[in-house]
Amino acid sequence: MTERIIQRFETSSGLLCAAADSIIKFVGDAIKLRGRATICLSGGSTPKAVYELLSDERSIDWATVHFFWGDERTVSPTDPESNFLMASEALLRKLALPERNIHRIEAERPPAAAAERYENELRTFFGLGETEIPRFDVTLLGLGEDGHTASLFPGTTILDETRRLVADVYVEKLKTHRISMTYPIFNNSRVIMFLVSGSGKATVLHDVLEGKPGCYPAQFIEPADGTLYWLIDQQAASCLSEASTV
Ligand code: 6PG
Repeated sequence: MTERIIQRFETSSGLLCAAADSIIKFVGDAIKLRGRATICLSGGSTPKAVYELLSDERSIDWATVHFFWGDERTVSPTDPESNFLMASEALLRKLALPERNIHRIEAERPPAAAAERYENELRTFFGLGETEIPRFDVTLLGLGEDGHTASLFPGTTILDETRRLVADVYVEKLKTHRISMTYPIFNNSRVIMFLVSGSGKATVLHDVLEGKPGCYPAQFIEPADGTLYWLIDQQAASCLSEASTV
């Protein structure tokens, strides 16, 4: 059974600070226990603001932290659309990390090849056999207004994927391919944090958290042996009942 913790913040800056503090704590705990931390990054505007806050953090030995991406747009790493570029500019460049700590999706390659290559990279880094699944210390996710998360969009084939850890997916509404991790890998994380901010998310957030289960991709994020946090600001939470927040 997934442990789900919903945290509501008066302001979006409160949410951002709490997210950065939690990430620092979980990363610090992982380093203490296992000598390194693995973090799976998300695209999106709220994560970007959190990355900017993290970039000033000096209490972490960042050289022991490895960065991965939950999804990527099919563009080059220098394209303004690239999730890698966003995280790189907001955070990674400021941390002076060894190259080997940055595990980007090579989305400039054909999508199927890029997905396969990333899956291989994950298997090699985590030292996994064919049926084993990586376990990230922290996975960050956003929520789209249509209920997507990472590049798990409603009605797409990747939602049914149970074998591959990373897959390419054609997203009809965007008329483009994306590359995304799949449910098995997300749901094997120790900690998953959804970061949701702004009034544009209020309706979908209500439907995802309090509506009928099984209707939106984000509802299938349920870590089997981990904790699921929803960090939301007041504007995004405006349609939720008081009871569902702590
Ligand atoms: C992406 C993301 C995507 C995002 C949501 C929410 O690459 O776009 O991984 O899933 O997190 O669309 O984005 P915002 O926080 O910008 O609303």
